[in-house]
Formats: sequence, structure tokens, C-alpha cells
Amino acid sequence: MKGIILAGGHGSRLHPITLGVSKQLLPVYDKPMVYYPLSVLMLAGVTDIQIISAPGDAAGFQRLLGDGSSLGLTLSYAEQDKPRGLADAFLVSADHIGDEPVALVLGDNIFHGPGFGELLRSSARDVDGCVLFGYPVRDPERYGVGETDASGRLVSIEEKPAAPRSNLAVTGLYFYDNDVVRIARGLRPSERGELEITDVNLAYLRRGKARFVELGRGFVWLDTGTHNALTEASQYVQILEHRQGVRIGCVEEIAWRMGYIDRDACHRLGRALANSPYGQYIMEITEGPAAGAPRAAS
Ligand code: TTP
Repeated sequence: MKGIILAGGHGSRLHPITLGVSKQLLPVYDKPMVYYPLSVLMLAGVTDIQIISAPGDAAGFQRLLGDGSSLGLTLSYAEQDKPRGLADAFLVSADHIGDEPVALVLGDNIFHGPGFGELLRSSARDVDGCVLFGYPVRDPERYGVGETDASGRLVSIEEKPAAPRSNLAVTGLYFYDNDVVRIARGLRPSERGELEITDVNLAYLRRGKARFVELGRGFVWLDTGTHNALTEASQYVQILEHRQGVRIGCVEEIAWRMGYIDRDACHRLGRALANSPYGQYIMEITEGPAAGAPRAAS
């Protein structure tokens, strides 16, 4: 399965911050925002990933992550000439996708929860159609909303409905079979001139091939698109990391625990950042007997 991180867009709700720098390179507490969606794909077992950015921004992501080989990944970069919508990702990355299934994650979404790695890996297995992830929110009218029947089957998806049929938002993580490229090519732009991901998902729903995985209340799904949301996300990460002594979205640790790199390689990545607590954390978890064999990532 190939991966795409969609990290373009206007970022207009974060102006003036995003006039000079891509939103997805901004810090969420101790690491760049893009580490969080990258870690989601890595946990899903996806290692060949394209990062789509706005024009002129690819160089910044490349400076940060390079070709991905230090993390055991293959990373490539593409630019979207303008924000034509989320489903445009499948057109921009058509060559990257080739004839494989694909996981798309939005570059400004943060997921965290118990057993997430295992859930991702089982959901990514043998994708036939699409897999969407639903999350209960207080204000569903701001999102794509999924409605399920009594058996949990997805029966409708509505984009920003005035009268939502459920409180389940469709989150910014999507798994598709390879048909998605053909479906995206056949879309017409919506009233706001964008290729809507909801239209892709509706195409799968009509075929009876849309799965909806509900993330329960123990999960956290945050987007970081506004000043308040960005600050809250940083605070969430700070509190959890400080309290538990773990790091959320530490791509070096995930690369090691998933077996993409070995312990020594991971330790060296930490040493290169030894002046920061982030680097020191990586060094600590990879040294001494306590580190042991890689634990299954979750
Ligand atoms: P949004 O948060 O909906 O849009 P935005 O990032 O352009 O911000 P704003 O509304 O403040 O102007 O986008 C969700 C994610 O998808 C975000 O990571 C940006 C990305 N995106 C693209 O890369 N290309 C696009 O065409 C669109 C619409 C979004």
C-alpha cells in the first residue's frame, strides 16, 4: 500500500503565521506537525509515501525528512499548483500510487489512542473499496458526517450538513483500493471549485464498498487548522508526554519499533538531536537493557 500526506492548502485560518511557512511544518509542541500524520502511516505499515505540498513548500519538507531512508522509508515530494480539494491528491499522486491501494492522511490531523497501530494495520489489510474512520464530535455540522445503521453499516455521508444525522465526523485518514484514481479522475469540481473527498467516498458507498471504523471515546482526533486548535493540540501533546514520559508521533521511535530501522540506527538519530529533550528521549529508549527488543508499536 502506498501513502500520501496531503500538506498543501491555504492555511488561511492561521494567517499571518502561514504567510511565511507551511502550516504542516509548524510545531505541535516538540515536533513539526507533519510528524503526526507521518507516524500514522508508518504505524499502518506504509513505508512508500508521497508528501504533497503547496508550490514552493516541498523544499522545506525535504530539508526536514530527506529521502526517508534514515527512517527506513521511501519519501517523495510533489506540489499541488493550487488547492483543488482533497480528492485532487489522487490525481497529483497518480504515478506514485501506480497500481496499488493507497492510504491518504491529511497533514494537519493528529490521531492518538490505545491500540491505534493494531487497528490501523488490521484496517489496511486487503482493502476492498474504502475504509473511513469516524469520530464523535460536538459540532458535526463542520465536517463530513457518516451515518450508520443499527448494525454499524455506513448508510450515508453528508458534507457539512445543516442538520447532521449523527455526531460521527469522517476524519482525515482514508484507505482506498486502486479504483480511487479512476473515481477521482471522473469527479466534477463542487460549487466551491474543489474535488471533494466526500464525492469519492459516496462513489464507494453507492457500490456498497465503504467501511466505517468508529474510533471510540478513548481516542483523540485533533485538527490543527486554527490558532486555538493548534495551541490545544500542543497542550495535549505536552501534558501527555510530560505526565507519561512517552512521546506521541516520534517517527524515529516508530521506525525502530516497527522494524524499519534497528536500535543502533535509531540511537544515532537521537544522538544527532542530543541537545533537545526530543533527541535525549530517543537516546534513552534505545540504550541499556531496559530498551530490549522492539515492542509492538501501538
Ligand atoms: P483545510 O484545513 O480544509 O484547508 P487549509 O489547510 O487550506 O486551511 P484554511 O481552511 O485555513 O485555509 O485542509 C485540510 C488539509 O488538507 C490541510 O492539511 C491542507 C490540505 N489541503 C491540501 O493540501 N490541498 C487542498 O486542495 C486542500 C483543500 C487541502
